[in-house]
Amino acid sequence: MKEFRDKVAVVTGAASGIGNALAQGFARQGMKVVLADVETAALEKAALDLSACGAQTLAVRTDVSKAAEVEHLAQVALEAFGGIHIVCNNAGVAVSGPSWMHTTADWEWLLGVNLWGVIHGLRVFTPIMISQGVEGHIVNTASVAGMVAAPGMAAYNVSKFGVVALSETLHQELAAFGSLVRVSVLCPGFVSTNILDSARNRPAEFGDTAAKLPGADEMEQLARQLVAAGMPPNQVADIVLEAIRTERFYIFPHPEWKERIQARMEGILAERNPEMGSIDEVIGRLRGNR
Ligand SMILES: NC(=O)c1ccc[n+]([C@@H]2O[C@H](COP(=O)([O-])OP(=O)(O)OC[C@H]3O[C@@H](n4cnc5c(N)ncnc54)[C@H](O)[C@@H]3O)[C@@H](O)[C@H]2O)c1
Repeated sequence: MKEFRDKVAVVTGAASGIGNALAQGFARQGMKVVLADVETAALEKAALDLSACGAQTLAVRTDVSKAAEVEHLAQVALEAFGGIHIVCNNAGVAVSGPSWMHTTADWEWLLGVNLWGVIHGLRVFTPIMISQGVEGHIVNTASVAGMVAAPGMAAYNVSKFGVVALSETLHQELAAFGSLVRVSVLCPGFVSTNILDSARNRPAEFGDTAAKLPGADEMEQLARQLVAAGMPPNQVADIVLEAIRTERFYIFPHPEWKERIQARMEGILAERNPEMGSIDEVIGRLRGNR
């Protein structure tokens, strides 16, 4: 898609971080922007900020883990603006800790948002965009965690590998059907957002997360430093807009991670066991790959 002006973008997780930067980026291109999020106050503020800059916006409180809410989002977007041209299935949350210590609620909450959110988005928006018969683009936010499975984030890794697989499948299906709709999968490294405070939006029905292992606080501190020093979200948004224009499927804002991705893929083909090294080596590598 090369021409953005007066077209309609729908962004989930638009009240914060990468989603908010994408919404701003689309508004700057003259698009009408539908912002969806569960965090109502932040969502309304984000929409007001965009409107103050002259953009036509619509804020729709949406829990992407619920099919009916994503269907409602599409319906009100169509009623308000008459079409949908870009969809960013971006909302996401994080949980950390050894895989065997994730609770059932951790798995259900995280997969509900990060994986089912994208599944609902694909199921609801793709047929609408195909039926319009005009150019469109779907951007699914995965992560480098959809390409390399680092320890301590099993549910997150599973969700992001799932988003990469869904996106690759959809890309090939759309091409096979000769559709004008394109898809990209966004795989960032560290981005300076509120992702590590995801628990702020954890519904009460999912209860508390598991007890922490010794050393977990130090790991969390490190993760906070890496995220705080990460790429500014608006830089990620610029890279996404360019990828939409050039119809690029894989979006890697942090190319320094490609070495790890390559090592994993070569390891699989050579049938080597996965190996991240000691905790110190992992930390050193993470610091190098910010
Ligand atoms: N920040 C990073 O380092 C990083 C790296 C790679 C990928 N990502 C991915 O980027 C995406 C955006 O996250 P971010 O880093 O901007 O974090 P963020 O916390 O700043 O923004 C995420 C947004 O998603 C919203 N959200 C949470 N649950 C929701 C739900 N059920 N329905 C709708 N919205 C919901 C939150 O309210 C928030 O506004 C996520 O998918 C995340 O996994 C982030």
